[in-house]
Amino acid sequence: MDREIHFANIADRNVRGMMRWWATSPKFADEVRANSMTGYLLHWYRTLSLRADARTLAAAPRTLRIALLTSACGGVFLVGTWVALYWLSATGRVPLADAATAVVAVQTTLGALTQVVRSAGYVFHTSLYLGDMADFFDEAARRAPHRGTARVHSPVEEVRLEDAVYRYPGKERPAVDGVSLTLRRGQILALVGTNGSGKTTLTRLLAGILLADKGRVTWNGVDLAETDARSVWERTGLVPQYFAQWPLRLRENITLGQPRTADDGPVWDVVDAVALREAVEELPAGLDTLLAREIFSGVELSGGQWQRVACARGLYRTPDLLIMDEPTSQVDPAGEHRIFETLKAKAADRITIVVTHRLENTRIADHIIVMEEGRITEQGRYDDLAHAGGTFARLLALSQDR
Ligand SMILES: Nc1ncnc2c1ncn2[C@@H]1O[C@H](COP(=O)(O)OP(=O)(O)OP(=O)(O)O)[C@@H](O)[C@H]1O
Ligand SMILES: [Mg+2]
Repeated sequence: MDREIHFANIADRNVRGMMRWWATSPKFADEVRANSMTGYLLHWYRTLSLRADARTLAAAPRTLRIALLTSACGGVFLVGTWVALYWLSATGRVPLADAATAVVAVQTTLGALTQVVRSAGYVFHTSLYLGDMADFFDEAARRAPHRGTARVHSPVEEVRLEDAVYRYPGKERPAVDGVSLTLRRGQILALVGTNGSGKTTLTRLLAGILLADKGRVTWNGVDLAETDARSVWERTGLVPQYFAQWPLRLRENITLGQPRTADDGPVWDVVDAVALREAVEELPAGLDTLLAREIFSGVELSGGQWQRVACARGLYRTPDLLIMDEPTSQVDPAGEHRIFETLKAKAADRITIVVTHRLENTRIADHIIVMEEGRITEQGRYDDLAHAGGTFARLLALSQDR
């Protein structure tokens, strides 16, 4: 019954836990307060809590009835035992000393039996949850993408997409719909397109985070569907659109995911590459500054500074494939210029992919791809596309009009 109630409530409890985090995280506190969301969030929280409580209360009478019945049965047997013992000793069928010994024996046995029954109950209770866990692992294994054991090796000279299609589960239309593309080492590719046109999904396919439903993605000719993902990700640097702000020291925020090194030289190199040195030097403990104000105290960076840290993290990896998904959306123009200059300067050793809505940034790219509804609708160099009279030219004109 305990498990039944647990199951009935688990969804509400999970949502409530998540809501609690969203409603109380300092990250969103400004928005919650200034947009007067508190009342609505509390209403939600209260509704979920009341619903879970109502289920627990509804099950209480049944639990109590079972407890009452089992206790009554136990009580009847115990009373029967004492009455029988009293009768045996009172009628002289059993000597008094034996009856007294029997009382002690019954007490001891009762304690031991209770312990056995209770422990068996715990084992049964836990085994139900362990069974659920085993089912979950089976389901997870069934759903996990099955990849092979092939490995890719550095340097990665070529990454190819051949007619790749990917549709998210539960969606009707593919997010990437038959894209073919060849990228060579040293190239910078810029991806542009409207919101939801499939740019981020395309980068996920290229990095082997998602496997294509149809078509292939290959690195140096090796199909990612047959490749050990670790060998791909060891050679990937990803600055995602929504990057993590780790509650760790600044140094770890840059080196996380890379083998630890005692030498801060490469860390400072990437700090310079994203023009963050001045800000780091102003921090109370430089690279050792803890960036976890809301959890363990420490310092908070501004939005653009955090984004520079995320870019530094991608660059620090010196990857074969560097993907930057709107890496400078919060960065000031000087910082943005510096970061794109760095990308250009470091492009020779790798394949660089930049997703951006600021079309001026695509000037550094060797190849620009315009995506619409999961397909490539235009491609070429900046100067060609700017005068081609297509979507790129139209968006460029709009951005320059402003
Ligand atoms: N994790 C996901 N689960 C389900 N659908 C998704 C997921 N991520 C994206 N989508 C859907 O796939 C489509 C393409 O999304 P994608 O994030 O690739 O677009 P995008 O071009 O990167 O857009 P933006 O410019 O807003 O970042 C959208 O319709 C989106 O709703
Ligand atoms: Mg995106």
